[in-house]
Amino acid sequence: ERKIAIAIDGPAAAGKSTVAKRIAQKLNYIYIDTGAMYRAITYVAIESQQSLADELQLYQLLLNTDIELSQGGSGQKVIVNGKDITEDIRNQQVTNSVSKVAAYRLIREEMVIRQRELAGKKGVVMDGRDIGSHVIPDAEVKIFLIASVRERAERRYYENKRKGFEASLAQLEKEIAERDKLDSERTVSPLIKAEDAIELDTTSLTIDQVTNCIFNIINEKV
Ligand code: C5P
Repeated sequence: ERKIAIAIDGPAAAGKSTVAKRIAQKLNYIYIDTGAMYRAITYVAIESQQSLADELQLYQLLLNTDIELSQGGSGQKVIVNGKDITEDIRNQQVTNSVSKVAAYRLIREEMVIRQRELAGKKGVVMDGRDIGSHVIPDAEVKIFLIASVRERAERRYYENKRKGFEASLAQLEKEIAERDKLDSERTVSPLIKAEDAIELDTTSLTIDQVTNCIFNIINEKV
């Protein structure tokens, strides 16, 4: 069977990683969460008390930062310079600062080099903001997942609740909208639907429905 590259893009909290993981698992493909890479450098910068306003300094930090996305049995782990930061990169501070770091040209260029290397072999599901439009423009399948801000905030709200922390729905809505705005309006490879991507509005769909829908699209290609 032919192995392909699958790009899944879309705004924050649209369900990209959940769906991408399932597809990768079922096809026995590699899953690459590119958002985790931007989160990782943001986390390292905050930890080492670097100014997030200094692009060159952040770039130098990134060059010295090894980011490994390891495919474990219990999901993907994010290992930075040997340290497991899988949980840390999801914290509030990282979530609310990452779009600032991800807007820098030097940071993006270096990340894209690494991402293309990771995607070098086919049999990959990669999720992010610019995968279909920029990182792997020749991906055989390109999906653009969207959902209303309200729906995405609610999903995040219940996800947080399950994990044991409470954040107000209104606050989540505000943060998601803010991140979308920064990601869509930046000059360097902004969040955009590739011309040949298939847009899927998941607002009133279950995870199973979304996954099945994407499988049908993939099956036409392999
Ligand atoms: O996917 P996730 O929400 O974890 O991504 C975190 C942030 O990383 C995004 O809000 C965006 O600023 C940045 N990002 C990006 N390009 C990607 C993936 C993520 O700019 N391909």
